[in-house]
Amino acid sequence: MQDGTIAVSERHAAGRYRGPARLMHWLVALIVLCMIPVGIAMGRINSGPLQDWLFYLHEAFGFTVFVLVLIRLAYRVTHKPPPLPLSVPRWQRIASEAVHSALYVLLLAQPFIGWFGASAYGAPVSIFGLFTLPALVAKNEPLSDAIFTIHDYVGFTIAGLLAIHIGAALMHGLFQKDGVLQRMWPP
Ligand code: HEM
Repeated sequence: MQDGTIAVSERHAAGRYRGPARLMHWLVALIVLCMIPVGIAMGRINSGPLQDWLFYLHEAFGFTVFVLVLIRLAYRVTHKPPPLPLSVPRWQRIASEAVHSALYVLLLAQPFIGWFGASAYGAPVSIFGLFTLPALVAKNEPLSDAIFTIHDYVGFTIAGLLAIHIGAALMHGLFQKDGVLQRMWPP
């Protein structure tokens, strides 16, 4: 038992995120990387069963992202991430903190904005058919249009931050080869 504890803390000291943090990172990454193209496509196709299905998936998985990010933040508060390698310059530490914080805030805000917009549109939000979210406001289509414009801008901001985040992770993995990519690598 004690040996196991030592092995886990040694792995952590060696600089990798713990298993649950990596699992939640890649679950959220997978969902968000699918949500962005689905979100763009569903507003541009003709109305019909396919569009309804994409809206349904987008809303239910958006709620899932919200819950997973909340759990992830709670886990992060109780389990501090391992320190970055000393070779990582100060500006990169500051930039990564800023991008990670912005991603957490926007990934929590975006599902909420979507729920607010759907409420104002008068559309119930079903979560995988298990339950329906309560409406946040009374039906008001102009308000819904305004909220979905904000939802679009926040979505494009998330996509831009992810491009920076993934570009930086690949730069560390392919060029700097300093172990930063391995910190979050799944296995
Ligand atoms: C939708 C996609 C993604 C989201 C929302 C996301 C979000 C995040 C966040 C919030 C963190 C900070 C973790 C923390 O300290 O609490 C993080 C860390 C990390 N992510 Fe992602 N990520 C995504 C995709 C990716 C991809 C595709 C890669 C690899 C190509 C990647 C590589 C990493 C690495 C290496 C770290 C650790 C950075 C460090 O050690 O400071 N991420 N990610």
